[in-house]
Amino acid sequence: MKRQPFFQLTQSAVEQLAANFDTPLLVLSLDQIERNYRFLKTNLPRVKFYYAMKANPDMRILEKMAEMGASFDVASDGEIKTLAGLGIDGERMIYANPIKTTAGLKACAYAGVNKMTFDNIAEVEKMAKACPGATVLLRFRIDNSSAHVDLNKKFGAARQDAVGLLKAAKDAGLDAAGICFHVGSQVMFADPYLQALDISREIFEEAKAAGLNLRILDIGGGFPIPELKVNFNLQEILGQVNARLEEDFANVEIWAEPGRFICGTAMNLITSVIGVNERNGQTWYFLDDGLYGTFSGVIFDQWDYKLISFKEGDEEIEATFAGPSCDSLDIMFRGRMTVPLEVGDLLLVPACGAYSSASATVFNGFRKTQIVVWEDVKAEFGLKDALATAV
Ligand SMILES: Cc1ncc(COP(=O)(O)O)c(C=O)c1O
Repeated sequence: MKRQPFFQLTQSAVEQLAANFDTPLLVLSLDQIERNYRFLKTNLPRVKFYYAMKANPDMRILEKMAEMGASFDVASDGEIKTLAGLGIDGERMIYANPIKTTAGLKACAYAGVNKMTFDNIAEVEKMAKACPGATVLLRFRIDNSSAHVDLNKKFGAARQDAVGLLKAAKDAGLDAAGICFHVGSQVMFADPYLQALDISREIFEEAKAAGLNLRILDIGGGFPIPELKVNFNLQEILGQVNARLEEDFANVEIWAEPGRFICGTAMNLITSVIGVNERNGQTWYFLDDGLYGTFSGVIFDQWDYKLISFKEGDEEIEATFAGPSCDSLDIMFRGRMTVPLEVGDLLLVPACGAYSSASATVFNGFRKTQIVVWEDVKAEFGLKDALATAV
């Protein structure tokens, strides 16, 4: 199995960057963003991609994606305005939040966003009033308990209501153009996609019988990045999805909304040990980034981050890792095996670009972790390229 290489700093790059910048420090590789986007495009050649910027809205990522011709999945007026501020046309956005705010709909009208998703009748009325004639996709619910983050707990119409809702949208003057789903985030098997495509085909047929000619299928996000516990072959998964799209949706426009896959492997965190303690026989390490910062994904994304210390040693101990704030909730990992650490030691956290800095706060007055671009600092400090093939 050929694995896609991804961005991971070497020990010497970590040490040099820590010496030249304060830690915590996030390092973003725009080359990796490009590799990830091209990988999806190569393996799903018919798909039009809308980057789900909620995963990481760093301006440099948005600019890079825009430059490469991508479109964008937006969830709020703030995201629409950010993209509009970068000169990105509303044509290249889909408002893919099934429940829209008044401000969000106003921003659509202002920025020319004419594509949106919905999963209930109240939303039909809201869209028809604020954005008459908009192109709308009905989001249906699928059950996928194997997803790392199951978004179907909150969104998606019952499958049997799908065509009725599309008809209601058409009757309200909207362009009822298609359907969409989200299998849940970090899905490591093809089955959930294939099951969702089976249901999609049924809805397309049912809609046709009801006089609706659907032309768009949006297969959402969920594409996985390498992670700690499960091995999978994304190329194989996408191959199966692509074959099914060819078989059942040959004349349909296919869209997707990848978030995690685009940015997840493109960012590395360098964090320092700032405190050490022994409490009730347990070793505690305090880091300069925490749950209220880049590690916010531990809570919001239920993510288990890898920690690399570069320290050699036969002895491994079980330790608790906590963040820098005064809050006792600010604990990231318990019972983590590690070589013994000391104040001043550096830790590298690879593949931490998705749902991490995006949900970081400035709680306790700690500023958000600075993000530098790898390709810039690499040139500035004469650093060696940094790629790994497994997390
Ligand atoms: C509507 C929608 N599309 C796309 C995404 C991106 O999903 P992922 O990061 O799993 O690719 C999300 C994530 O929450 C979402 O809610």
